[in-house]
Amino acid sequence: MSKVVVFDHPLIQHKLSIMRDKRTGVKEFRELLEEIAMLMVYEVTRDLETCEVEVETPICKATCRRLAGHKLAVVPILRAGLGMVDGVLNLVPAAKVGHIGLYRDPETLEPVEYYCKLPADSTERDILVVDPMLATGGSASAAIQFIKNRGCSRIRLINLIAAPEGVERMQKDHPDVDIYIAALDDHLNEHGYIVPGLGDAGDRLFGTK
Ligand code: PRP
Ligand code: URA
Repeated sequence: MSKVVVFDHPLIQHKLSIMRDKRTGVKEFRELLEEIAMLMVYEVTRDLETCEVEVETPICKATCRRLAGHKLAVVPILRAGLGMVDGVLNLVPAAKVGHIGLYRDPETLEPVEYYCKLPADSTERDILVVDPMLATGGSASAAIQFIKNRGCSRIRLINLIAAPEGVERMQKDHPDVDIYIAALDDHLNEHGYIVPGLGDAGDRLFGTK
């Protein structure tokens, strides 16, 4: 069974509460999403492997630690996942970026794929899939299946807000994929929106409604 980590850091909770507010405009929403993604990835990467290196400081030789092991790729689920990419890249600038285009059919709530382009060496990388919303879990589950079908295996999912239904679906479909979230909300409404949630993340991020 995958683990679900909820980041209850005060800075993340404060910023998320502003994002949830319906009066928050596009500019602030976008900035906050990037900031929260950066704070989350700081914690998600806590267990990255390091190795000892010798460094000569202006004073003397010192034994330090540098990142070792697998490199990272960040894969946003389009569109709303795009809003988290720069936050990740601020901390991990050498990460490569893949894209998966999916939208949720408003009638069936089933994900429809329209784009998938991953880094050529993605099978050698740890993959961070990012999307602010985990609602039914259909989009994240399908996206992760596409990534697995291309041979990748070390995958983590980072969402801002999850519904219990989405977490359950992910754990059933992908028990090997750990889930990192800033909030576990109450339930989904009859339109598949997270309650209380923050509304339509893509529309709020890009100002399309
Ligand atoms: C939203 C969100 C997720 C998906 C979550 O995208 O960004 O990708 O819904 O819902 P699910 O867990 O029920 O699949 P949407 O389909 O609205 O597309 P958009 O990002 O292009 O607006
Ligand atoms: N997608 C969103 O953008 N918001 C929700 O609440 C559910 C799915």
